[in-house]
Amino acid sequence: PLLYELAEPLVVWYRSNKRDLPWREQPDAYHVWVSEIMLQQTRVEAVKPYYERFLKALPTVKDLAQADEDTLLKLWEGLGYYNRVRNMQKAAQQIMADYGGEFPGTYEEILSLKGIGSYTAGAVSAFAYGIPKPAVDGNVLRVVSRILASTEDIMKQSVRKDIEKKLEEVIPADAASDFSQGLIELGAIVCLPNGEPKCWECPARKLCRAHRMGIESDLPVKKKQ
Ligand code: ADE
Repeated sequence: PLLYELAEPLVVWYRSNKRDLPWREQPDAYHVWVSEIMLQQTRVEAVKPYYERFLKALPTVKDLAQADEDTLLKLWEGLGYYNRVRNMQKAAQQIMADYGGEFPGTYEEILSLKGIGSYTAGAVSAFAYGIPKPAVDGNVLRVVSRILASTEDIMKQSVRKDIEKKLEEVIPADAASDFSQGLIELGAIVCLPNGEPKCWECPARKLCRAHRMGIESDLPVKKKQ
């Protein structure tokens, strides 16, 4: 299958083109989790200072579990969507109660934590533990829709599930983290939305069906809810 052929060029490209981002320096589960929750509704450049300050104030799961509400809200002030940080604290308390403060190490356990859905569970599993699970966000939906020239509506849950399944089948066992981060990075810096994709820089240009057909700017299809 086409996505199978993507794995090697993507991983090679990611290793020499990835940006230096603070959460890539020491990707343990707690760090990946904090960064991915912040990145869900906020841009990379805006997240950086929040990420550094948050981890300085609350360097461990235990610190987060025990933080008082004022501290928590101050650390999050400006990021918005405060339920994100409230849920993170509940999850940290769950980790204290159920796992003795040690971040759980399987996809299913991570998925069962408060505020963690399939995207974040996939990201933590793959980036921190090398577990071959995909992390499919909007960037990844765009990249995969274009490579496959898929005109399916990415707002549909069934389409997301299908893309997760297709990716899971081709994640290299020895490079799960670089594969999944590579997809996110490709969507963030090369396979840009609308009329802006930089196809000449793309490691997938030889296999991308949308590029071959000249329809990359028309994809993905995203219908209004
Ligand atoms: N957006 C979401 N997750 C990201 C990550 N790990 N690195 C860069 N951008 C992201």
